[in-house]
Amino acid sequence: MSLQIKSFDNYKRVYDYSVKEPEHFWADIAENFQWRKKWDKVLEWNFKDPDIKWFQGAKLNITENCIDRHLNTLGEKPAIIWEPNDPEESHRVLTYKQLHDKVCQFANVLKNNGIEKGDRVCIYLPMVPELAISVLACARIGAIHSVVFGGFSAQSIADRINDASCKLVITADGGFRGNKDIPLKAIIDDALVQCQSVNKVIVLTRSRTPVSMIKGRDVWWEDEIRKVETLGNPVCPAEEMDAEDVLFILYTSGSTGKPKGVVHTTAGYMVYAGYTFANVFQYQPGEVYFCTADIGWITGHSYIVYGPLSQGATTLMFEGIPTYPTPSRFWDIVEKYKVNILYTAPTAIRSLMSFGDEPLKGKDFSSIKKLGSVGEPINEEAWHWFDEKIGDKKAPIADTWWQTENGGIMISPIAGVTPTKPGYATLPLPGIQPVLVDENGKELEGNDVSGNLCIKFPWPGMLRTTYGDHERCRQTYFSTYENMYFTGDGCLRDEDGYYRITGRVDDVLNVSGHRIGTAEVENAINMHSDVVESAVVGYPHEIKGQGVYAYVILGQSEHDPELTRKNILQTVTRIIGAIAKPDKIQFVSGLPKTRSGKIMRRILRKIAEGETANLGDTSTLLDPAVVDEIKTGAL
Ligand code: WT7
Repeated sequence: MSLQIKSFDNYKRVYDYSVKEPEHFWADIAENFQWRKKWDKVLEWNFKDPDIKWFQGAKLNITENCIDRHLNTLGEKPAIIWEPNDPEESHRVLTYKQLHDKVCQFANVLKNNGIEKGDRVCIYLPMVPELAISVLACARIGAIHSVVFGGFSAQSIADRINDASCKLVITADGGFRGNKDIPLKAIIDDALVQCQSVNKVIVLTRSRTPVSMIKGRDVWWEDEIRKVETLGNPVCPAEEMDAEDVLFILYTSGSTGKPKGVVHTTAGYMVYAGYTFANVFQYQPGEVYFCTADIGWITGHSYIVYGPLSQGATTLMFEGIPTYPTPSRFWDIVEKYKVNILYTAPTAIRSLMSFGDEPLKGKDFSSIKKLGSVGEPINEEAWHWFDEKIGDKKAPIADTWWQTENGGIMISPIAGVTPTKPGYATLPLPGIQPVLVDENGKELEGNDVSGNLCIKFPWPGMLRTTYGDHERCRQTYFSTYENMYFTGDGCLRDEDGYYRITGRVDDVLNVSGHRIGTAEVENAINMHSDVVESAVVGYPHEIKGQGVYAYVILGQSEHDPELTRKNILQTVTRIIGAIAKPDKIQFVSGLPKTRSGKIMRRILRKIAEGETANLGDTSTLLDPAVVDEIKTGAL
């Protein structure tokens, strides 16, 4: 069976087959990949422990699927096109052959620096081809990568490195994003003060920012490459991996304080990323595909690197931001490379929309055939703008719903094959069995219902555990409702059976498509010496989707409110990173609490949303007067 479905009727048939005979369905899909040895058993699972194993007994290496198997047919074709932050700098193209050589070379560098199968490697790089090369080089030798987004602080990196006991860090002197130069190596140096497990740091030259290089620990990427070059052998045989060997860890926020290391394993993740990429975007040979995400997030893992490369696609990687040097930047890139498929985020669309039509003038969008959106609910206005201005109403929009834990797209239109509907992720891909449940876990059947979104049957790309803490994985995803994976999202299934994701139902915010735990932000704010207590909620934000609203109680001493506000922002930036900075900080003398001391977030959320008229029952509060004060001071 081909990975691509070609008609709506065919979708319905295949979907039914995938529900009735999931193991046959996934075995058919898996036949499209290259295996050193095929599986003995397609699936073994229970959601109680949870214990999920796909393609047991199979042997493979994901880089043979992403690179080696294309060399005969696509060796001279572009695998990665790289567009730098500064449009004046030259772009780079890596053919599949060149990518193969570079991945092998760097895999040999990792080996030379003591990395073996199963070791954890932290990658903290800007969006340059060497980031993709690093990820693939780890996979080549069976090392487990943990990519940390370049916007996270030293403290966040240290927490992630320590949680996974990483042995080696790959970074750069600095990285460019818009008009900023981010001192990546200096941030790593600050992080490593707290990390015992790291004994090597490989530093790529990118920004030529001065850095300190510590003897015995820090080495230059370029020097290490020269060393393996003089050894002569450019090839690095791919390590033979078991289907369930860990491929990577990626940290994501939850409703408690500490981020979790989501664990993805080799065969299932590969099959799922490749299948969903090929099917959702209906990728055709020769098309240029541009996903605007950062490889620091799951979207970049699955849909810049593994998914597209496994399908022999040409994947465009952009180092910069949509608005630099002008808000025409995305469109200049579309024109320059004749991009056929553009996969971006609602927050980017809204931000570019806000500049009006001027940045679109004279740009050639005729190459665009398919569009995609991911990360948060897309409002109808942004959907229509994307459809009309960018797609000229001819390019189907795949509003793709999925999560870090899912490995790949779960609910989405299949471009040009199944219907779209503004604001709706529409229908589950074949192989995915979503259900809506009420608070008691009772399945809501039929259409025109709303509830909490769960998945009742495993899929190959799902997380297997949270690194070092399996119980946390069970608790977070598999304990709320018996025998189901709980997504944390609220969802509507309309009268036609189409799904519309309405947003998180837990204490997790989605700011510009990035997941931020309110507890994490509160912990960071509370670390500021003037702060007694805080409560963080989300509120609707025109560009970011959600903004961060913090209610803060200060201590007794005298405060300059403006300076204290800035100090709090500085503290959050240091503890988590600039992405978690509150948009609004309201100083309050107390928080609405129940007699048992629980903060009534429902009330705080309503006030942050500007809905102060109907706050519901406040009679159970310890001190109802505090609500009036908060209402009066609302920002
Ligand atoms: C959360 C997952 C997986 C890609 C990037 C985000 C929200 C994601 C959509 C969409 C409505 C969406 C959900 C989900 N979300 N895509 N198309 N429509 N909501 O990954 O950080 O793991 O966040 O993003 O709330 O649970 P993530």
